[in-house]
Amino acid sequence: MLADKTIVLGITGSIAAYKAADIASKLTQAGAKVEVVMTDSATKFVAPLTLRSITGRPVITDMFEPAAEFKIGHIALAEAADVVVIAPATANTIAKLAAGIADDMLTCVVLATKAPIILAPAMNVNMFENSITQDNLAKLKARGFTIVDPASGRLTSGKIGLGRLADIDKIIGIIKQVLGRSGDLAGKRLVVTAGGTQEPIDPARHIGNRSSGKMGYAMAEAARDRGARVTLITAPTSLLEPIGMEVVHIETAAQMKEAVARAVAQADALIMAAAVADYQPKAVAKAKIKKESPSLTLELIRTPDILTEVKGDFLKVGFAAESQDIVANARQKLEKKKLDLIVANDITDKESAFGADTNKVTLIDRDGKVDSLPLLTKREVADKILDRVVGFLAKKARK
Ligand SMILES: Cc1cc2nc3c(=O)[nH]c(=O)nc-3n(C[C@H](O)[C@H](O)[C@H](O)COP(=O)(O)O)c2cc1C
Repeated sequence: MLADKTIVLGITGSIAAYKAADIASKLTQAGAKVEVVMTDSATKFVAPLTLRSITGRPVITDMFEPAAEFKIGHIALAEAADVVVIAPATANTIAKLAAGIADDMLTCVVLATKAPIILAPAMNVNMFENSITQDNLAKLKARGFTIVDPASGRLTSGKIGLGRLADIDKIIGIIKQVLGRSGDLAGKRLVVTAGGTQEPIDPARHIGNRSSGKMGYAMAEAARDRGARVTLITAPTSLLEPIGMEVVHIETAAQMKEAVARAVAQADALIMAAAVADYQPKAVAKAKIKKESPSLTLELIRTPDILTEVKGDFLKVGFAAESQDIVANARQKLEKKKLDLIVANDITDKESAFGADTNKVTLIDRDGKVDSLPLLTKREVADKILDRVVGFLAKKARK
């Protein structure tokens, strides 16, 4: 989604300026055209040459001598930008913006642009907590700026506190979220489930499954990038928590059912990518079970069937991980659970097995259309599924 987007990356005079090189690199690798604008002070911390080499673009440091291709530099840049990101943003630049001062290329671009603006402050904890800085940030927030709150940790001054530049992945996640606001799912609410539920046996053990959560997380991120308001309900995974959505952590199928029931109240679609246990131990031992007897029998009972039991006027997309008769089994599940779309995959196929980054799926919809997709990344599969969701939602809106 970053491909072909023009991102103006403003860098200001913070010790965290070196981290902007990483942001520029990740955005460039994702296909964005990154136009770097550095304040005078920023050039004391990192060399423009570094940014020029990373982005393959001229770096603008002087308002009166912008790169030749920009006739009136700040206006052309302001108009070309899909988003303006200032990372790191100093207390000084934040104060100038709050006061409407435009005395360098960066502040001029910000005043001249109609694109969304993201600020990622980085500074000493006292500077950040100072009520002047807080007032300035509140003023900018009220004017529609997106502020990526700094993280807490060890600062260059040796102090521990708020003020460290937010995680690069968080900043990039927020850029994607902001760019997605005009996507084809803008204004829609999607609930996505992910991961494999865990059903406790005793305080130390559970029954789990091999789901990595990657497909569900890819679904949630793709929906966010297309403008949806996403609630991700996730069983434990080893994945990083995605940015720009509400994330609800659960462990068991019963907890997932409750969380889904709460989340779907105003949802347009529910996408059940989680691998929900079919059975749970009938009783959970209060103390850890000792290995005393030579054998142990666990009595299992059915878990709630979330897709069947959760009611409401929203689209339902299910997943069917099958190891035989893939299409027939998936179609049966679609009908039984009254789904709009089912995504079937063959878990005996290595490339679409649990934990893989790729997936080979067949989409079967309520109208009987069967669409076998080639091997794709999970993110690509997610976008194909969302294309269908967008189509269904448009059809529903016309009715
Ligand atoms: C070593 C050093 C580190 C600095 N780090 C920060 C910082 O992290 N955040 C900040 O707001 N100012 C920091 N400053 C102060 C700014 O560089 C100073 O306010 C400057 O005027 C900012 O200019 P600019 O906003 O145009 O980039 C630092 C100064 C020095 C000398």
